[in-house]
Amino acid sequence: MMHHAYIGGLLEHTLSLAVLVNRVADHYSGIDRDLLMTGAILHDIGKIEEFEYKCRIDYSDAGRLINHIVIGIEMIGQKISEVENFPENAALLLKHLIVSHHGAREFGSPEPPKTLEGLLLNYLDEIDSKINGIREFMDSQETGDNWTAYHKPMERYFYKGHLK
Ligand SMILES: [Fe+2]
Ligand SMILES: [Fe+2]
Repeated sequence: MMHHAYIGGLLEHTLSLAVLVNRVADHYSGIDRDLLMTGAILHDIGKIEEFEYKCRIDYSDAGRLINHIVIGIEMIGQKISEVENFPENAALLLKHLIVSHHGAREFGSPEPPKTLEGLLLNYLDEIDSKINGIREFMDSQETGDNWTAYHKPMERYFYKGHLK
């Protein structure tokens, strides 16, 4: 319902976020680029199980009952346990990126970002999901009008008169 809600959308969002991270990571000093890139690639991995496709995309039972952040943590934890001597601190920092990528408890993150990589991932994820979601919404509207219909998730009308 929010963004990239079509077949292939998760892959498109994940790639787009990785490209954004690639562009932004060097702009700031003191960023663990590998950690941030790994977080970008894996942040929504739980959505593979959170959604299902029969004749339309919908939440799966696991998605409704557990949600993609928890599913993602389980999936990544499972993979990490298969790697001998995976560094404990790297696992912790990567899991923190998954846990915190929604930014705040009211948006589904049990903990807010507490590392620079976490903050960057949260903001870049939000940029990518918002821009895609709003662009999809604009494209779905009548072409003649300067304004879109009311966009409920962001509680506003969007102006597109200059894009004609
Ligand atoms: Fe997410
Ligand atoms: Fe995302």
